[in-house]
Amino acid sequence: IFAAVEMAPRDPILGLNEAFNADTNPNKVNLGVGVYFGDDGKIPLLAAVKTAEKARLETQPARGYQPIEGIPAYNNAVQNLLFGKDSELLAAGRAITCECLGGTGALKVGADYLKRLLPEAKVYISDPSWENHRALFESAGFTVENYAYYDAATRGVNFAGMKAALAAMPAKSVVVLHACCHNPTGADLSAAQWKEVVELVKQRDLVAFIDMAYQGFADGIKPDAVALDLFAASGLQFVVSSSFSKSFSLYGERVGALTIVTAGKDESARVLSQVKRVIRTNYSNPPTHGGAVVAAVLSSPELRQQWEDELAGMRERIRAMRNSLVDKLAAAGATGFDFIKVQRGMFSYTGLTAEQVEKLRAEFGIYAVSTGRICVAALNTRNIDYVAKAIAAVLKK
Ligand code: LMR
Repeated sequence: IFAAVEMAPRDPILGLNEAFNADTNPNKVNLGVGVYFGDDGKIPLLAAVKTAEKARLETQPARGYQPIEGIPAYNNAVQNLLFGKDSELLAAGRAITCECLGGTGALKVGADYLKRLLPEAKVYISDPSWENHRALFESAGFTVENYAYYDAATRGVNFAGMKAALAAMPAKSVVVLHACCHNPTGADLSAAQWKEVVELVKQRDLVAFIDMAYQGFADGIKPDAVALDLFAASGLQFVVSSSFSKSFSLYGERVGALTIVTAGKDESARVLSQVKRVIRTNYSNPPTHGGAVVAAVLSSPELRQQWEDELAGMRERIRAMRNSLVDKLAAAGATGFDFIKVQRGMFSYTGLTAEQVEKLRAEFGIYAVSTGRICVAALNTRNIDYVAKAIAAVLKK
């Protein structure tokens, strides 16, 4: 039965890990996948996480099945982080949250649910968007189209183009928005622009699906949630996928959440019952460990503070690497990269072509996404000179 099966292409992001792991170049650097590494080149285990994990494992908790939607302590913690604990929306019972398998899992559960609810809708993603968005929504059965977003000339957002695209979308279209730290470009909307987007979503009767995988990596937990605040204040119904992979450095634990904002409590109960069916027929219920650890950190004032401090440390180190990369590129003869300093989040959309990215890999063992996206959070004081010189070299050829 498998004789005619064709080889599928490698995943554009995770496939780079496979190639990187197989590479024997001792100088190799992986700037492909969006993972934060410390200056020592290792994925950090946050101190707040370590404390919460230790306390949890000491109790030797039983491993029974979790509720289909995950535990209330986790789901409440997610909601408080997204909307603030004094949120009116939360007090009114307008949000339901399910623990999902990372941000990707949340997107897929949300996509599967929306496909059942709005079978005729089209999904619109930014041009460009996270490499997996299109495939994920297509795998849920949607037709996926782009909306204008990035302006390569200004290295910023083509906001006029984005607004025109939103204004032309049919009612009930699903529009996928990046809350902050746009992946891959690092070009975000301002608060004033978000206001206009919310207004257009309302006018056009669109369904916003807000992907929030990097809360805390631009300016901090609260400022990075400005889009959510504005959507919350609008009275609209919308969907949010969020993730603790990056902010808690818990990539492999797959800790994410799907949150759906409804018109009220009664609607919330009905929507939750339907989302639970989607989850039950997919993976049944989420795993125990990661969600419990995140809930423990977020519900302890001391651990939460420690976590926010550690998150700020990651954010500041990324900024330092951005500044240093620009300076080192200039010193190596590659000027015009100042935009790297203002891009937000883990990534830099460098403008390198697919051929230049391929040269970086073949000649230097430096891995980046073929679109020219590099993960700045994987640079450190030991590899940055090598990377800057390599980029300058491939630009000269
Ligand atoms: C990325 O964009 O590199 C990350 O979000 C990891 C992933 O799952 O692709």
